[in-house]
Amino acid sequence: MQRRAMNKAINKLNLLALRRHYTEPHALYNSLRSQDSLYYDETSQSWLVTGHAAVVKILDDPRFLSSLGSATNSSAGQLSPVSRQMLFMDGEKHKQAQNVMLRPLAHMAKNMPSDIQRFAQEAMATANRTGEMDAVSGFASPISLFTIAHVLGIPADDKAMLQQLENWSDTFGDVTSGYFRGEMQDIKNLEDYFRQLIAQKRRALTDDLLSAFIMAHDIFPEEDDLVANCMMVFAAGRITTKKLLGNGVTLLMQDWETYQKEFQANPRFTKQLGEELLRMITPTRYLIREASEDIDFSDTFPGNHVVRKGQRVLLFLEAADFDPAVFSQPQDFLPHRRPNKHVAFGYGPHQCPGATLARVEIQVALEELLSLSSLQPKPGTCPVWNPNPNLGGFTSNPLVFKPA
Ligand code: HEM
Repeated sequence: MQRRAMNKAINKLNLLALRRHYTEPHALYNSLRSQDSLYYDETSQSWLVTGHAAVVKILDDPRFLSSLGSATNSSAGQLSPVSRQMLFMDGEKHKQAQNVMLRPLAHMAKNMPSDIQRFAQEAMATANRTGEMDAVSGFASPISLFTIAHVLGIPADDKAMLQQLENWSDTFGDVTSGYFRGEMQDIKNLEDYFRQLIAQKRRALTDDLLSAFIMAHDIFPEEDDLVANCMMVFAAGRITTKKLLGNGVTLLMQDWETYQKEFQANPRFTKQLGEELLRMITPTRYLIREASEDIDFSDTFPGNHVVRKGQRVLLFLEAADFDPAVFSQPQDFLPHRRPNKHVAFGYGPHQCPGATLARVEIQVALEELLSLSSLQPKPGTCPVWNPNPNLGGFTSNPLVFKPA
């Protein structure tokens, strides 16, 4: 009887409920995690994983595949080039593809801080003039867009084109993360743009990431592979950082003066701020894997936990980052938290290869932000959410400088 009542309670916490509550999901996560951190939801026929230990274990287990994830199995995912990106590859082939990125990205993380600082200062010039700033369109969005364009070697002089690419890439990010808006022409346009850029680059290779992809022709033998991975990096590197910064400002405003003082006393404080923002916001809310065979977790996680071959597993990184077994006072923003073992960059073979660069980008952006006098929400406004339940952050977050 007690078991039936518990099942009923858990059943209310299905995937649909989580999606409905995507702007404030933590009460649902907490309830689900405390009852069963690895739970089979009949309505979505997927396992919902909300505990840190279970998320890490599954992401590190090669029997769970990315290539069978929702996008590759869905009709939109069948569209080349969405299905050819390394996010949906496994095993040795995937490892080789990821390796192509590592050296150029490490080089950029070391050499790009002054470029990122320039992008941030240019973005904030208007704010300094007018005393107003939209944290998304006037800060997070341009910094993340110009940074990833620089990484890939996309010409930044045509601002209107970059804006267009950003819009098309948002659709690509939606489709890749399983949220379909039905504007497939955007993906086609983005694909055409990268085909042209690849043709130009082939004539004059440089030290950008796209050139590195082209030079790795044994790993990316076909043009579709190049196009797919350019589109993926452009979206993966931009949407996540934009959400982190655009939403993060709101958390910082809660105690702006304190953070500003700490930053003045210790310039490395932005590193800790960045880590805690990554934990609190966790821009990629969940990842999807599929079991390549029956996998029995009953010994590790008490209860009947046999994931059957072909079943989908949704790993809620955001819930793992609030797991009280790993983070004390998980709901509080505590920049001095140590250790801070968040999984915002994922875990295991697909763990974000852009993490070091993203951390540099976040730190530089925060340094510039904290040089502003304090901010507050623009009276009469509130942030607006993007409806993508996985990647969507604020689409606008209007702020004004607080009078001294
Ligand atoms: C706040 C910033 C970022 C966050 C939170 C983030 C998060 C993630 C996560 C969770 C994954 C794992 C996906 C999976 O396991 O299926 C991932 C993969 C990836 N990220 Fe990031 N990312 C960020 C920034 C970046 C940047 C700046 C770049 C590029 C310069 C980048 C490039 C990639 C790529 C290429 C992958 C795919 C790796 C693979 O499938 O092997 N990311 N990212």
